[in-house]
Amino acid sequence: KLIYVLNGPNLNRLGKREPGIYGSQTLEDIGASLIERAETHGCTIEIRQSNHEGQLVDWLHEAEDKGAHAVLLNAGAYTHTSIALLDAIRSIRAPVIEVHLSNPHTRESFRHVSWVGQAAKGTIAGFGANSYLLALDAAAAL
Ligand code: DQA
Repeated sequence: KLIYVLNGPNLNRLGKREPGIYGSQTLEDIGASLIERAETHGCTIEIRQSNHEGQLVDWLHEAEDKGAHAVLLNAGAYTHTSIALLDAIRSIRAPVIEVHLSNPHTRESFRHVSWVGQAAKGTIAGFGANSYLLALDAAAAL
């Protein structure tokens, strides 16, 4: 099973970026734990990060074209703004699991809306770096 892990804007700054909210692990650290966990599930993972909305749209299409079993998507702030990502998720058959390190519902009201969540299979949020591992377990079990 091939699983894409797509990360949106500012997630390349993890570890340095607001560590009180997002923790001290870098995206590379999270990637290393994901690769380890994927092996236990017999899954292959493809991890990407971009600060650009259209690139994330292209990668969702690519995941579908490559026959991905599922996609984990932490769209960062585009979660709360991007109808293009909502449409891209709707345009593919692969289930998308929305992931967040923080729990947006406990934060500013502008984070309470998720366009991504409107088309996602489900959402895992609020468990820090572990949100990704929980999402991978869920994806592998689909
Ligand atoms: C985030 C939550 C978003 O609201 C925020 O814009 C991010 C990170 C998270 O993982 O907690 O960039 O997606």
